[in-house]
Parts: sequence; C-alpha cells; structure tokens
Amino acid sequence: MTTQDAPIGVFDSGLGGLSVLDAMRALLPRESVLYIADSGYAPYGEKTDAFIQQRSKAIADWLVERGAKMLVVACNTATTHAIRHLRSTFSMPIVGVEPGIKPATLATSTGIVGVLATAATLRSERFKMLLAEHEARCRFVCQAGHGLVEEIERGHLQGALVEDLLVRYLTPMANAGADTVILGSTHFPLLAPTIRRLFGDRFTLIETGSAIARRVQALLPEHGLAARGLSPGRIEYFSTARTHDQRQALVAIAKQLPMSDLRVTVSGVEIGH
Ligand code: SIN
Repeated sequence: MTTQDAPIGVFDSGLGGLSVLDAMRALLPRESVLYIADSGYAPYGEKTDAFIQQRSKAIADWLVERGAKMLVVACNTATTHAIRHLRSTFSMPIVGVEPGIKPATLATSTGIVGVLATAATLRSERFKMLLAEHEARCRFVCQAGHGLVEEIERGHLQGALVEDLLVRYLTPMANAGADTVILGSTHFPLLAPTIRRLFGDRFTLIETGSAIARRVQALLPEHGLAARGLSPGRIEYFSTARTHDQRQALVAIAKQLPMSDLRVTVSGVEIGH
C-alpha cells in the first residue's frame, strides 16, 4: 500500500469521535479511516493528566503501527492534555480538536456563552489560555458535563438521566443569558437533537467536527498524503471496550449518523499502557 492509500487514524476516548468521523466522511469520502474508541478507559474527562497522556500515546502507537498516515485526536480532553507530547513524538501531521471559542464569540448576540466540556478540559492550561484570549469580548459560563459521557458510552443519547443532566447543566446558562453553547467534548454533539428537543432554539450550538474535517482536507495534499483512488475509502472500527454491550453501543451510534454505513462491525482490541 502506498502512503497516500494508507488510512487516517482517528481516536477518541470512546464514541464521541464519531461526530468528527462523520464530518470527515462527508468531506473526504475517498479516505480510509481506522477509528478507535478507547471505551475500556473512558471517560478521560474524569482522569488525571498523566493517565490521559499515557492512554493517548498508547492509542497513537497502535494506530501508527497499523500504518496510519495521519492522526486525528477526535477528543477535546486528549487534545488539551496530550497533543503537544504526541506532536513531539510522531513526525506525521496530527490534528486535534478544541472547544470552538472563537466561532462562539462570533455567533453570540448577548455576549454570554455557555461552555459544556469535561472537567479535565476545563482545568487544562490550554483551555484557560483560549478563554483568556476572548474574555474581553464575552462572558463564559463553564460547566463540567459530569455523567454525560458515561451515558453516551452506554448508547444513551436520550432518556431520563441524560435529560435531567442536560437540564441541570444548561438551565443556569440560559438563566445567565447565554444564547450560544459550546459543545466542548466530541461526545456532546451526539446529544444535539436532545438539547434541541429540551431547549428549542434557545441556544446556537457550536461544535467543531466540520472545522476539523476542513483542516484534515487542507493538510493531506500539503503533506502529499491525499488518497489517490477514486473509490470510497474503507472505515474500520475498533474498540477497547471490555463488554459486547459497550461495543454494540458504538455500532448503534455509528449507524444513526447521517453518513452511516449499512454494515458496521467493531473489532475488540486490548491496548495496554
Ligand atoms: C471523555 O472521555 O470524558 C470525553 C472526552 C472529550 O471529548 O473531551
């Protein structure tokens, strides 16, 4: 296989990166992808910085060993804590995902923006720096989405618990005057239909999947890595989930996405530290 025909390696702590994969497939249908969900170790957002860095490195090693030509860290928490280390370790292009602070500042009319992200993303230096760059123009109401990632990993994109948590986390943002909410974990765009059902058009929801896909689209030819074949790329799904039910949640959500495959099969893999 030539380097151009090699797959792009995409990883997340779990199922959230599917929202990025979906945007990539819409824009880059000829690219093959190895998608790996580190669901056996999710959620990253409640773990220590060292743990997030170790897991990100172990997963990136696994993807590189399987011939990935580029890496997409489709996880806000892994990006904020590990991308610098990954870039200093691997020579290939590595794209990360960050909360869409700038697009939110452009979208808001009230100047008040909610940020729903993981506890680990909110405490990271990178996030604090991003926020500081924009704090003169906007007020940010930040909230850690405790419990949401766990529910999504079970395949629950709606239902009593998810809805209670969303109401608990987003109502204070609405009360503070926020008209825009940043979905600062790649898991959370999967909840967008439920948020819209609960809050109507109260919020403009900001997610960054399409921006990441455009960045990948620009970088591939720059590095001579764009796929040359004309046929659709192959998507292979892997998961470190320890149970069949957890792997099935990946299948179910991958099938619900707009760019879904008719047939999604997930291979279980064990990746140690
Ligand atoms: C998580 O594993 O806690 C979610 C990761 C993220 O997208 O920030």
